[in-house]
Amino acid sequence: MKLPYAEPYKIKVVEPVYRSTREEREKWIKETRYNLFGLRSDRVFIDLLTDSGTGAMSHYQWSEIMLGDESYAGSLSYFKLKEVINNLLGMPHFIPAHQGRAAENVLFSATIKEGDIVPGNSHFDTTKGHIEFRRAVAVDCTIDESFNTELYHPFKGNIDPEKLETVFKKYPADKIPMCIVTLTCNTSGGQPVSMQNIKDVSALCKKYNVPVIFDAARFAENAYFIKTREEGYSDKSIKEIVGEMFSYADGATMSSKKDAIVNIGGFLAMRNEDLFKKASTYCIMFEGYLTYGGLAGRDLGALAQGLMEGTEFDYLEARIGQVEYLGEKLKSYNIPIQQPTGGHAVFVDAKKFLPNVPKEQYQAQTLAVELYLEGGVRGVEIGTILADRDPETRENRYPALELLRLAIPRRVYTNNHMDYIAASLANVYEKRESINKGFKITYEAPIMRHFTVKLERV
Ligand code: F0G
Repeated sequence: MKLPYAEPYKIKVVEPVYRSTREEREKWIKETRYNLFGLRSDRVFIDLLTDSGTGAMSHYQWSEIMLGDESYAGSLSYFKLKEVINNLLGMPHFIPAHQGRAAENVLFSATIKEGDIVPGNSHFDTTKGHIEFRRAVAVDCTIDESFNTELYHPFKGNIDPEKLETVFKKYPADKIPMCIVTLTCNTSGGQPVSMQNIKDVSALCKKYNVPVIFDAARFAENAYFIKTREEGYSDKSIKEIVGEMFSYADGATMSSKKDAIVNIGGFLAMRNEDLFKKASTYCIMFEGYLTYGGLAGRDLGALAQGLMEGTEFDYLEARIGQVEYLGEKLKSYNIPIQQPTGGHAVFVDAKKFLPNVPKEQYQAQTLAVELYLEGGVRGVEIGTILADRDPETRENRYPALELLRLAIPRRVYTNNHMDYIAASLANVYEKRESINKGFKITYEAPIMRHFTVKLERV
């Protein structure tokens, strides 16, 4: 018999969680005005809000916390991380930042101006926010297959080269500061981009003189999918695949809270020294001196160690295997999900799950609230509330997909937790016919409203 995958680690420390009653949850969620971000974490039994900064560090990472060099300038932890980034990604210049959006802020301050066009594959919301904040426009060039949840495609994060070239032909190169390739593509369901697509996009960008920037939050999970799904890569190590992926990029921003399995951290990496110099000024202004960038020395050390662990095949197999396990369980209950399952999360198709709730009443948010009430499981809406209003017309933007994301923290939960989540969602699915009312917004912030939105039952 072929032996199954199993986690390549054992558990040394545990954190008890409280299992609340439905009555308690009814009260708590009403108090937060039906915004799951507003819940105290001890009122959540299984927390799938995000896989960002919620992973469990290894004892090697914890030992880096003790080894951290807290010198203001020239910290040894900085040099440790610089070496890992250069070896792994082949990028000679790097700037630490306290998290992904901070790296975006530093890079975009140096590169994006009003009226610019930034094409890419379904930009993440902070990325889009930082682009729109500068009065530039993010253009989504993701392949059409990505928007059909039932359709199987091994690389639903791919960019459509035709859509991209249309953008390049329509606007002059000096209006296109970069093309952003998000690996894996979070917004479309943690879906990977193939090596072939990275190559094609890179060649097209070269032709039009546009730099390729990776949003590399989940680059290792992307490499795992290339190894397991793309011809010619099954015998290559994850680190070799990562090296090839980055050879096609000019630079990258990374939220290290994902694939580097740290609780805080990020960075910016690039080839070009001029860009490095330009961005350095903004790092010093917004984040701190160049050898710590808003982080403690100990965080830099844990990040360096996490990058090495996060690019191990056995770890990734168990990690992505667990996400797939949950996806298969949900499918066995006929629950509609984005297929195939992504690297970090299962995305439930809320339009198909709750067809009786009008889209103006926020289907995915309604499903997120129902799941919390049923089992104390906290997911997150990736739908109309997150999509926000059009910056010009101020009308609600209705995205092609209305999803409930169940993001799995790294090395945190067991497959028994996955069974519990699936059962909770299956119970909601059983009574879906009777759910025909959603929510209306009573308060929203002018940008990134989902974090603080307040809702009322219709
Ligand atoms: N890019 C991607 C693809 C992301 O998923 C995130 C964060 C960021 C950039 C920003 O990084 O949070 O460190 O500032 N995603 C988290 C999530 C918040 O839940 O998916 P950050």
